[in-house]
Amino acid sequence: MGRVRVGAVGDVHLDRDVVGRFRPALDDVAEHADILLLAGDLTRHGTPEEAECVAAEFGGLDVPVVAVLGNHDYHGDRVTEVTGILQAAGLTVLEGEGTVVETQNGNLGVAGAKGFGGGFAGRCATAFGEPEMKDFVRHTEFSASLLTKALESLECDVRVALTHYSPVPDTLQGEPLEIYPFLGSYLLAEAIDAVPTQLAIHGHAHAGVERGVTPGGVRVRNVAHPVIRQAYSVFVIDQTC
Ligand SMILES: [Fe+2]
Ligand SMILES: [Fe+2]
Repeated sequence: MGRVRVGAVGDVHLDRDVVGRFRPALDDVAEHADILLLAGDLTRHGTPEEAECVAAEFGGLDVPVVAVLGNHDYHGDRVTEVTGILQAAGLTVLEGEGTVVETQNGNLGVAGAKGFGGGFAGRCATAFGEPEMKDFVRHTEFSASLLTKALESLECDVRVALTHYSPVPDTLQGEPLEIYPFLGSYLLAEAIDAVPTQLAIHGHAHAGVERGVTPGGVRVRNVAHPVIRQAYSVFVIDQTC
């Protein structure tokens, strides 16, 4: 198996005023990447109109486009419509599922889930006390379990985890410490480390940094657009599952 090239960007927060900003760099994406991953917060407020902007910007590319949604995409309470618009444009939208893409250099499996907050080892929320607190933590636990099942479902040469929320604190450096519990959860890293995974992609942390690693040694990359400051970054994987 050769080297698989994974393109990725998150937090493009599209609305009509942004359409066209990314497209010039996307038209030749196949020359640089075998797949393009979108790490959530594709829209500004999760409206169908904004989803149409995402469809126009990321539809019809020469490589498969695989996405998860972010918290902004949920804000309008119209996730089903938003997802449908993206899928109609040819994008694959994952939430607790996996998909395998055949590339000329091997089969690339992507497991996707939005994830959620809760914080990181030693400073995390626990399912204790008020029902609202238990609901918060249980949503994270549920999302992490979805990610594990999605990773386990993949039969592929290379396995990638795609989330919106961060699995590690490394990539949050630059964000206020006070909001770390709202930026990710260690449970996502546990999910990733439970299954052989070559790369973990996330967004959400606009003021964070690009590079991190899970406790199990999986490479983590924060591809939030304000962090990578380009249409997409490319990560090369030459390991096998
Ligand atoms: Fe964002
Ligand atoms: Fe976000």
